[in-house]
Order: sequence, then structure tokens, then C-alpha cells
Amino acid sequence: MVTARSTPNIALIKYWGNRNNELRLPAADSLSMSLSSPSVEIDVNFADELTIRSFEADGLRKELTDKHIDRFRKHLELTKNFLKTLGAEHAIPAAVSITIRSAIPSAVGLASSAAVFSCLARAYAALIEPVIALTDMQMSVIGRLGSGSAARSIFGGYVALRTGTGNGIASAIAEQIAPEDHWTLHDIVVIPSKEEKKIGSTEGHSLASTSPFFAARVEAIGTRRQQECISAILARDFEKLQKITEEDALDMHHVMETSTPPLHYLTEDTHRIIKAIEELRISEHVPVLYTMDAGPTVHLLCPSESLQRIRTFAQEQKGCTVFETHAGPGAAIV
Ligand code: PMV
Repeated sequence: MVTARSTPNIALIKYWGNRNNELRLPAADSLSMSLSSPSVEIDVNFADELTIRSFEADGLRKELTDKHIDRFRKHLELTKNFLKTLGAEHAIPAAVSITIRSAIPSAVGLASSAAVFSCLARAYAALIEPVIALTDMQMSVIGRLGSGSAARSIFGGYVALRTGTGNGIASAIAEQIAPEDHWTLHDIVVIPSKEEKKIGSTEGHSLASTSPFFAARVEAIGTRRQQECISAILARDFEKLQKITEEDALDMHHVMETSTPPLHYLTEDTHRIIKAIEELRISEHVPVLYTMDAGPTVHLLCPSESLQRIRTFAQEQKGCTVFETHAGPGAAIV
């Protein structure tokens, strides 16, 4: 048996839309910061049949739906297909038993799939190591096959997922841009609602291309945004990072809101928090940026110098749960 640990990441250039839904090959590049917490641990062993047990942050067993189990079954199948392309088709002879222990509080509203599938990819790699030693980039492919953003949580710090070309199973891979100690950015997560999101990201990705603004989004990331974001990170230029990441987050939500059917993830609370942050920036010149994924939660990223001010701001937001984390390492064996 092997045990791995991993965490979610927060995207600075968002992944939204695939060129191949089946293989989760993204339509454009994306870029994220891996988080130091909350973490997920997974035990994996060889088994005759696929079994999955999942425990929540409170230690209680979570009942998995058929849809959940099918996702893991599909992921195992795709992982085997990928291993076949590496000449290691028998590395996982039959199936696996999986035990997931998530320390991600359900109230936090952080998508756990990036943590879970990066963790599982790391664990699979350790399990099959006597047969084949996978590189981190190859592990990112296995993570991506379960959840596109999981490819990025294989690495620590600042990580790019390259869209690549073609329809090969390994044609989109993640790579580290800079390690976590290059720049300690904090993520103060402000969660306005504990509501389950209506349409999950897997389904959402397949709607992206129905938006008339999707092609322009892919073009902007490919020609400019991804590279500008990388340059801002390498230069630790917070103002530049703020401009490009907010532009990209709002652009992704514009695509979501104009797809058929439209996806409205942002709520009145989200807009109120964004407005208050913009005002705070003007009145007090505090370095802080906001970004939102497929939900109403606002991530406030800031350098250490403004942490205290943003912490206070977050705690003042009525009816919101606040969670604090920062740039952290990627998936690892425990
Ligand atoms: O990895 P998925 O399929 O859950 O998609 C993640 C989508 C966003 O969180 C909205 C953006 C991102 O890049 O993480």
C-alpha cells in the first residue's frame, strides 16, 4: 500500500473549456498557485475490483454516488490507456482499492477534485514504481485525466498547464514555473455561501464553446495573458499580476454567463466583496487581487505585507466563512 498527500490550487489564468472532453485536453493554457492547505490523503493498493472509501474532514464516511464511482472507474481506465502508451500496460494488472481522507472542510467551498486526482496520480505512480518510474510531468497527465486542474497540483508553487496540440492522451502537461518559496503569496478565501454549485466544472467545460466570447478568450490567453502572468510571477510584480488575473477571472465568468445554457456562479455577495476590495485598493493602496472559480467564493491573494489588512477585511464580511492558506508544495508521498 502507498499513501500520498496533495492540496488544491488557485488558478490565476483559468482553465475553462476543453478541445477534447473525454481526455480533458484543455482548449487553452492555464496557470495556478498550489496551496499549502487544506490537504487530502489517499491510500492505494492493488485489488481485484475497484473499491473506494471516502472520509470527510470530520472523520465521517461519505456516501459516494454512482456518478462519483464512475468517475474513478473512468479515470483508472484512462490511466491504464496512458500507461499502455508508455509500454507499461500491465503495471496495474486488475483494479485498485482507494481510501480518501479529506481535510477539506465542506464549508470552505474549495473544489476538492484537483487535490483528489493529483493525490491519486501521485499514489498510482508510487504503486507502479517497481514496473515504471514516472516523471512529475507524466503524473500531471494522470491527474489531468481525472480533473484538468489536478494536473497543476502535482507541482508546488506556480504551475502552468500547457494546452499542447493534437489529441494524444499526453498532449497537455503541467510544469512548474517557480517554486513556492519564490514568492509567498497568501490566499484569504471568503466563502459567502455553502450552497452546492448547480453545474459542476466537468459539465461546465463542455458548454464553454457555446459562448460567442469563447474563441476570443482562447486567443487572448494564447497570444498574451499566459505569458504576461508568467512574467509577472517571475518578476514578483504584484500590480501586473493583479491586472492580468482579474481580467482573466472576469473574462471566464463572462464566457460562463454567455454560454447556452448560461452559468451564473457569482452572486450578489461576490459582487459586493469585489467592489469593497476595489474601494479598499483606492483608499488605502493595499496590494490585493481577487479571483473566483466556478462558485461565489472570492479568493483574495496578497503578499505578506498586506496580509493583516486583508485578514481584517475578510473577517468583516458578514455571513461569510473565511479560510486562510498560502503558496505551498505539490503532491507528495507520505
Ligand atoms: O479541474 P476542473 O475540471 O474542476 O476545472 C477547474 C475549473 C476552474 O476552477 C473554474 C478554473 C481552474 O483553472 O481551476
